[in-house]
Amino acid sequence: MSITVLGIETSCDETSAAILVDGVDLRSNIIASQIDTHKKFGGVVPEVASRKHLENVNPVILEALDKAGATLADLDAVAVTYGPGLVGALLVGVAAAKALAYALDIPLIGVNHLEGHISANFLVRPELEFPLLCLVVSGGHTDLVYMPHRGSYQLLGRTRDDAAGEAFDKVARAMGLGYPGGPLIDKLSKEGDPNAIKLPRAFLEEGSLDFSFSGLKSAVLNYLNRAGQRKEEVNKADLAASFQRAVVEVLVEKTFIAAQGCGVKTIMLAGGVAANRSLRERLLLRAAEAGCRVVFPPLDLCTDNAAMIACAGYYKYLRSDFAGLTLNAVPGLAL
Ligand code: KG4
Ligand code: ZN
Repeated sequence: MSITVLGIETSCDETSAAILVDGVDLRSNIIASQIDTHKKFGGVVPEVASRKHLENVNPVILEALDKAGATLADLDAVAVTYGPGLVGALLVGVAAAKALAYALDIPLIGVNHLEGHISANFLVRPELEFPLLCLVVSGGHTDLVYMPHRGSYQLLGRTRDDAAGEAFDKVARAMGLGYPGGPLIDKLSKEGDPNAIKLPRAFLEEGSLDFSFSGLKSAVLNYLNRAGQRKEEVNKADLAASFQRAVVEVLVEKTFIAAQGCGVKTIMLAGGVAANRSLRERLLLRAAEAGCRVVFPPLDLCTDNAAMIACAGYYKYLRSDFAGLTLNAVPGLAL
């Protein structure tokens, strides 16, 4: 018997619904992005995001069913992101999922957004064997997570200030590139020299697997201010490439120190910043040197989407890890 899961994701600025069969057969993954709405504010405005989710959630769910050629009666479970994220945004998805689970009398599954990002890897590679290490890099998180077995997450290191994606977004904004900054810096970097501008790398204390990107961000802002005061032209491509190199170098180094420390041979990448071309390339290079394997989700499953939530939900379904109808949004939910 096959298991059909409806996934719902509304934690930030994407309203998404997906139909996934048996954890691997993705029948639909509809994403209504609010990027154009938030662009003019230079970032996500929480109140506006909630209202947009409210407008979008039902049409997006219906479209996901329609595209999959499925009806509500085909669903075996509803999986929804209940944290971490913006509380008003999360509540919309959670309320929609609870209503469906109650009306259809099927299990409700609460999914941690980060578990979702990690699970994007299992959607395309269900054969991955534990133990695994995952570098989760998104707009809100930079976490090194050790997974001794499925469903078990041990946090080895995390950012002490800005998340990697947040640093990309803030630096892009200061450079006048727009929002979201990650893809724009990634693209502009292709034309720049990553060694042109000397920028700091924060490795922190010996043995620490934590990250810090605020010093790097400040160094870029100071560089821009100094150039402005001296009326010097800034080579934006060089600055983007140098900044990206500094972020990527620290991420890659710490990931391999962690992999060595816990004797893991397969490293997964997850989260929006996992779409970064330079991060993927350098991880692959280091993996070849270290005799490790690095895997990452396809580009469209790196940034927020409901397919990854449905996949995490599928494995929770197999463990009968269900939520009650009292499920609530938890903005600061930990893994
Ligand atoms: O995972 P995600 O979609 O949302 C969160 O859960 O935060 O990640 C969004 C973040 C943004 O900060 C965005 O700038 C960054 O991922 N991002 C990238 C790239 N694509 C998206 N950062 C660097 N390079 C990219 N190609
Ligand atoms: Zn995310």
